[in-house]
Amino acid sequence: DGSKLWGGRFVGDTDPIMEKFNASIAYDKRMWDADIRGSKAYAKALEKAKLVTAEEKDNILHGMDQIHDEWAKGVFEVKPGDEDIHTANERRLKELIGEPAGKLHTGRSRNDQVVTDMRLWLRDAISILKGNALQLITTMVERAAVEIDVLFPGYTHMQRAQPIRWSHWILSHAVALSRDVEQLQEINRRVNVLPLGSGAIAGTPFNIDREMLRQELAFDDISINSMDATGQRDFIAEFLFWASLCLTHLSKMAEDLMLYSTKEFSFLTLSDAYSTGSSLMPQKKNADSLELIRSKAGRVFGRCAGFLMTLKGLPSTYNKDLQEDKEAMFDCFDTVHAVLQVTTGVVSTLKINPSVMEAALSPDMLATDLAYYLVRKGVSTKYPLKPGICVFVCSSQSWCGLNLNCFCVTIVVLNYLALSRQVPFRDAHGISGKAVFLAESKSIPLNQLTVEDLRTASPLFSSDVSAVWDYSSSVEQYSAPGGTAKSSVAAQVEHMRTWLKKQ
Ligand code: ARG
Repeated sequence: DGSKLWGGRFVGDTDPIMEKFNASIAYDKRMWDADIRGSKAYAKALEKAKLVTAEEKDNILHGMDQIHDEWAKGVFEVKPGDEDIHTANERRLKELIGEPAGKLHTGRSRNDQVVTDMRLWLRDAISILKGNALQLITTMVERAAVEIDVLFPGYTHMQRAQPIRWSHWILSHAVALSRDVEQLQEINRRVNVLPLGSGAIAGTPFNIDREMLRQELAFDDISINSMDATGQRDFIAEFLFWASLCLTHLSKMAEDLMLYSTKEFSFLTLSDAYSTGSSLMPQKKNADSLELIRSKAGRVFGRCAGFLMTLKGLPSTYNKDLQEDKEAMFDCFDTVHAVLQVTTGVVSTLKINPSVMEAALSPDMLATDLAYYLVRKGVSTKYPLKPGICVFVCSSQSWCGLNLNCFCVTIVVLNYLALSRQVPFRDAHGISGKAVFLAESKSIPLNQLTVEDLRTASPLFSSDVSAVWDYSSSVEQYSAPGGTAKSSVAAQVEHMRTWLKKQ
């Protein structure tokens, strides 16, 4: 094993199965570009530290550019002894430029090299995923803007709850995704830290200018502690958790859409582009895109949980266990990358069926509104003079010269009567519940109860109760920020557009 990068102290050969078991080249070759960038920056630092001459540095840079070309063209030849991307590139450099290649690793260890490569790679990956997520959010927000007038049933516990706007539903998922984007940026601050110059564990004994390396590789910061820098993979764990949470959000959305696309709901139809058929049943159009989106949350969470288990109980600094970080990182990137794009496609091409959605609304979903009707029956707002003001006016009667006593007493009495008619919500809820029961026992919709029927539940009902049975005016009550009224949903669209512009 004298031919190996680390072969000096070995006399025996590596077992072939062990060789394969140990190698990571099959997957870490994806970091070829990051590895080359790191090595080129390191060659410059070596020259500055006078560990290589200007000419040697130029040779290394030139050789690295050639290797870059080979990878880019897909002609780089991985040789049997290439354990990982770092050894492969260094082996090739030696073939291309000869001796100065051996100086490149001065003061460097694969321990600081690999984690530098991973941070460079993940930084780019994060920026790609951020772009994908923003595209999805934009698609959702613009769809919400266009379809703002469509009403449909909102569900809690998967039971009909209250009428809402379809756009309100879309935005609920867009808002969750916007937090994913913010979290991704937050993670990126911790990813974007330079470990190079940490060596294997103890740091670098040479005059390696780490600040220069930081600038060359455009990192925001330099790692503070060489043992931490080489031995920690918390930034990977954070990314895996991020992927898990983001896909958990999307699995929820996919589940809703799947339900809405069933024949039984028929709220919407998926585009053929995102559906598949059955090999047996000719009529089938399956929402495979949504099922796969839903499934991938489980996959990435498995990666996250698996890698955390690998990390648990590891001793300090680099251990080969850490090589397991790569497949988890690549797989989570690939998965989220695909899911975000497919979801964008699904959301931008699905067709909604507004008449079916609105027809699915039923009067029982206005039982809350019926209770609110009773709460609003209190007419205190009709007589805005408060007793306190009346007492003040009456006591000032001596100087104002007017006899306002009667007027004030009337206001106080009216206010009192109004307040005494106001129903606490808890009672109104009970009364409305009685009405629901009554309608059910008569097998008629809630809005078909007569005023007389309703009066058996409360004498406060009068003919104006008919105004309750209107879905549009129902949703319009919810005009406070965050609600489902048109003005509020439009404000949410604007909020999201402004947020998107800032990204
Ligand atoms: N392929 C290794 C990894 O991915 C590179 C670091 C190896 N370092 C070492 N001391 N064996 O973790």
